Amino acid sequence: MENLKIVTDRLIITEFDESMAESVHVNSLDEENRRFVPDEVFETVQEAHDTIIFLIECYRDMKGPFVYPILLKSGENIGYVQAIPIDDEWEVGYHIASNYTANGYATEAVRAFVPLIMKKIGIARIWGICRGDNIASRKVLEKCSFILEHKGFGNYKGENHEICKYLYRLR
Ligand SMILES: CC(C)(COP(=O)(O)OP(=O)(O)OC[C@H]1O[C@@H](n2cnc3c(N)ncnc32)[C@H](O)[C@@H]1OP(=O)(O)O)[C@@H](O)C(=O)NCCC(=O)NCCS
Repeated sequence: MENLKIVTDRLIITEFDESMAESVHVNSLDEENRRFVPDEVFETVQEAHDTIIFLIECYRDMKGPFVYPILLKSGENIGYVQAIPIDDEWEVGYHIASNYTANGYATEAVRAFVPLIMKKIGIARIWGICRGDNIASRKVLEKCSFILEHKGFGNYKGENHEICKYLYRLR
């Protein structure tokens, strides 16, 4: 994967570097993240650092996952956006730290990121999968032109939950 840097009105989506371990650790600890994405909580700076090293390695080939920090233009790290391989398909993911939510940042980041990363990977469709009760995440997907394809109960990160599967297609 060639270098990625996206600049939107308020955000910069760029590549991780090791100096971000502290902010990645702190951002990951909020309650919404623990509830909806428990496998992406980093309890220590070391854990965040090890993950960043792995993610930087992943930029070097085309297998993914491709995960990028979301920065305010002041340089503050407020979350991430990602494209993750699932079987033969890809799934988008995102987190905005709780101090920064409800400002439209996730929508702004996902809207800019999705078409660009899809072109870079060479795919025509990407999934957005979330719990049915993750209203904020569903709103983000809907505002970014993802279409609800399936809603039903199933295994979500090891627990039984209502799951919504949205699909975005490149036009
Ligand atoms: C989901 C998440 C990324 C949204 O980030 P955000 O920057 O607040 O998103 P936006 O501001 O772009 O849009 C969120 C929308 O949900 C609404 N919203 C936010 N929290 C909400 C809540 N608890 N209940 C209902 N609506 C909520 C906002 O008002 C906004 O809707 P609007 O545009 O109609 O006003 C953020 O809450 C988060 O990181 N959650 C934890 C991780 C997660 O769930 N990731 C997705 C996994 S599938």
